Amino acid sequence: MILPAWFHAVNNAPDPLKPLKNQKALVTGANSGIGEACALALGAAGADIVVNYVSRPEEAERVVGLIKQSGSRALAVRADVSREDEVQAMFAQMLKEFGTIDILVNNAGLQRDARFHEMTLEQWNTVIAINLTGQFLCAREAVREFLRRGVVPEVSSAAGKIICMSSVHEVIPWGGHVNYAASKGGVMLLMKSMAQELAPKKIRVNSIAPGAIKTPINRAAWETPEAEAELLKLIPEGRVGVPEDIARTAVWLASDASDYVTGTTLFVDGGMTLYPGFATGG
Ligand code: BGC
Repeated sequence: MILPAWFHAVNNAPDPLKPLKNQKALVTGANSGIGEACALALGAAGADIVVNYVSRPEEAERVVGLIKQSGSRALAVRADVSREDEVQAMFAQMLKEFGTIDILVNNAGLQRDARFHEMTLEQWNTVIAINLTGQFLCAREAVREFLRRGVVPEVSSAAGKIICMSSVHEVIPWGGHVNYAASKGGVMLLMKSMAQELAPKKIRVNSIAPGAIKTPINRAAWETPEAEAELLKLIPEGRVGVPEDIARTAVWLASDASDYVTGTTLFVDGGMTLYPGFATGG
């Protein structure tokens, strides 16, 4: 059946509650924490979602089920983001199932903490491989598809959007975590250099730098009242963040509402980067 033009006009009209309608998103590391919250929020905003995970498939399926409840399509795909072959297979599957990709949330990341003189090469390599090389590999595949497809104005004013999950530790040095801080410092200039190179192609690349967010990665820092009290000394707003704080920012960065924003890191940290020690000291 050939549908009349008015049908398409109504169907494609911007919906303020579903700003990502008709878009396809991949969120890496989406079976827990910040990745899960981003996947749910992008899904609720109307995007179909690939939920990437590397272990615990049952958690990925749980997230898929929640996204489907919001009326969007969702698919769990296993891939280790540091492995080129697995990343390419994941993208091939996404393009086969969903046809294209409009939004990549480069979220997968981990910590392998150690005092500097005790840090093993394996701890160093693991963190750089997942947190930095993984973002490169996923972004490269996404950009290849953005360039192939170009802008589809009914879907988005951009050919594609990439959101890199960074950290306040892209600027705050972090003893005991030099591998992690180095990986996030690397993400900062990966993001900015990509943004500079790809802006003429209408591809937007930005980062979110979360502060302390309650997720499994930093459980020890907020689990006990004593630990949380210590942590709160670093957060002027006086609360530890929750994954939804980051997810809301991701929806905005993925939508055309941020059309003129590229090459920027948005710090979502309750003021952690404001040198809270100087509020009374110095
Ligand atoms: C780290 C967390 C830490 C937070 C603030 C994050 O990037 O993954 O472990 O609590 O930065 O220091």
